[in-house]
Amino acid sequence: MSSNVNRQWLFAERPEGKLGVEHFGYRESAVPTPGPGQVLVRHRVLQLMPGNRSWMQRDTYRSPLETDQVMPGYAIGEVVASNDLSFKPGDVVETMLGWQDYALASAAALKRRDTPASMEDLMGLLGLSGLTAYFGLLHVGRPRAGETLLVSAAAGGIGSVVAQLGRISGCRVVGIAGGPEKCAWLLNEVGLDAVVDYKAGDLADALSAACPNGVDLYFDNVGGRILEAALDVLKFGGRIVCCGATAHYDSDTPSRGPLGLPLKLIVKSLTMHGFANYGYGAHEREAESNLLKWLSDGSLKTFYHIVEGLEKTPEALVGMMAGMNRGMLLVRV
Ligand SMILES: NC(=O)c1ccc[n+]([C@@H]2O[C@H](COP(=O)([O-])OP(=O)(O)OC[C@H]3O[C@@H](n4cnc5c(N)ncnc54)[C@H](OP(=O)(O)O)[C@@H]3O)[C@@H](O)[C@H]2O)c1
Repeated sequence: MSSNVNRQWLFAERPEGKLGVEHFGYRESAVPTPGPGQVLVRHRVLQLMPGNRSWMQRDTYRSPLETDQVMPGYAIGEVVASNDLSFKPGDVVETMLGWQDYALASAAALKRRDTPASMEDLMGLLGLSGLTAYFGLLHVGRPRAGETLLVSAAAGGIGSVVAQLGRISGCRVVGIAGGPEKCAWLLNEVGLDAVVDYKAGDLADALSAACPNGVDLYFDNVGGRILEAALDVLKFGGRIVCCGATAHYDSDTPSRGPLGLPLKLIVKSLTMHGFANYGYGAHEREAESNLLKWLSDGSLKTFYHIVEGLEKTPEALVGMMAGMNRGMLLVRV
């Protein structure tokens, strides 16, 4: 690739059913030049997440995507040219400007990342997924030693960090994931106490067997029938952190929420806490410092599923929705 070409993946078409690579378009254009107050960023690592798919739905929680706009998404890279005094070439910055080699950003929209860490760690453990896991579990869920923590999509980006933070907090950690290989990986590599393969057998039976004393805290990444089943194993007074709803994303006619609400919340006195990770900026340094401490003392591991090359981004997101990733899915651009 010539360095004066900007490769871009575009939103081409809203999928009616499951996502495919045909729903994306591709364009090459000249690398832009920053105007007043603008900064040119060379993206180095993109972060993919189920949210990228949900933004392509008709009824999404943000502004609907427009045909031929660059696919939005979190990215990290370095400033290569700046027309604003607050940034200089070489500065490491985070953007939301998505699936392209170069992004032209207004300086005010850039987030400076000055923690000395690799681009992968800045986008992964110290990026959206790691911080969402940290705030969602530790600030919202507030696990206590001796409790049973149940985590869905436990082998995913957020789930694999939540599971480890649960163990650091002294919980018995039970993970839910799809397929025997992922479940074995969770037990052997991530260090969970028990796992449930939601694609095999009866989910209710498997959850009861894995959580014989019930669940105190359920960290929900997926919603749907897994949330429905988890309601039955929660103890009286149990807590649910609703972090994501991946089971509802890969369709333009997603199923309705789980059966049993609100009655099961009422009769078991459950607390269901929806959580979005903005508003925690004041605690980011605390989160970074604790995550790095646990990483260096070996109590926390990073699991990155790295895809090499911007050209593979669409197939990587399609793969993620089918369960391809173990840990956080990052694309090296
Ligand atoms: N609240 C917030 O502020 C916030 C911030 C960021 C992300 N999120 C949300 O958090 C959730 C997790 O994000 P992540 O980036 O860590 O993604 P992730 O869990 O790595 O997502 C991919 C995994 O989801 C699972 N999955 C796919 N379709 C599924 C289905 N129909 N039912 C159950 N599981 C399914 C697959 O694992 P299996 O093979 O195990 O099925 C797949 O590997 C997402 O819903 C995301 O939107 C929330």
